[in-house]
Amino acid sequence: MGRLDGKVALITGGARGMGKSHVRRFVDEGATVVFGDVLDEDGAKLAADTDNATYVHLDVTEPADWENAVQETLNAHGALHVLVNNAGIMRHNTIENMSLDECRRIIEVNLIGQWLGIKSVTPAMRDSGGGSVINVSSTEGFNGAAGMSAYSASKFGIRGLTKSAARELGQYGIRVNSIHPGGIITAMSMQQDIVEATADRAQAIVDGIPLQRLGNTKEVSGLVAFLASDDSSYCTGSEVLVDGGFTTGFS
Ligand SMILES: NC(=O)c1ccc[n+]([C@@H]2O[C@H](COP(=O)([O-])OP(=O)(O)OC[C@H]3O[C@@H](n4cnc5c(N)ncnc54)[C@H](O)[C@@H]3O)[C@@H](O)[C@H]2O)c1
Repeated sequence: MGRLDGKVALITGGARGMGKSHVRRFVDEGATVVFGDVLDEDGAKLAADTDNATYVHLDVTEPADWENAVQETLNAHGALHVLVNNAGIMRHNTIENMSLDECRRIIEVNLIGQWLGIKSVTPAMRDSGGGSVINVSSTEGFNGAAGMSAYSASKFGIRGLTKSAARELGQYGIRVNSIHPGGIITAMSMQQDIVEATADRAQAIVDGIPLQRLGNTKEVSGLVAFLASDDSSYCTGSEVLVDGGFTTGFS
């Protein structure tokens, strides 16, 4: 028996990185998965390689894409129980150097994209008798970092979105929680601007993590599967860290 037997889930940013790992874990746990992304080639390949998972083009900033993704999910599977708001982008740049357009884009994808997601799935989840929304924030939803103003602002914002949505939607049996990964090895954390910005203190960053290492995508998927499942039936509005202890303090 899988932890997610009978559940229909929509996962954003599912073509690679943590989202891809969540797609695989959810299928292993018995869920039927529809996943979206803007990387259509990668998405189509993952869907071809994975039973019970289908890909749909879903730019999280586009209301029409959301409408289409929800409708396709309902047409194919008749219900929608879980949304994983995972899609995100990160850019390292100081406030002085970042353009307004770049700042707006980060907040649009990371924060407005999740708001749109909740708005788009709510009617389907109500009709399905309830559901679970997992919003992917970050440890940067608790701490600022130089060069990360827009990203950090978007990830702090997700905490407010999560708590407000939890208060609005609890009456329909829809739970809304945020997760806060620390450094997880993916294309995002290894992207050039981040590697360059942290090159002189990369070891110090790892040394500051009580578990003394970065995390891997599967370690985040375990938490996401738990929050999607009925095992977390009394959790809503929670903020759950998956950071190896990074935010505990200083040694
Ligand atoms: N990697 C880390 O260390 C880390 C830490 C904390 C939080 N996070 C968060 O975890 C989530 C997943 O990140 P990841 O590390 O797997 O990165 P990733 O870059 O590997 O994956 C992000 C996915 O989101 C997709 N995406 C980007 N813009 C999109 C859009 N407009 N619409 C739909 N999809 C879009 C990308 O194409 C990609 O497939 C993000 O929200 C990220 O902010 C990552």
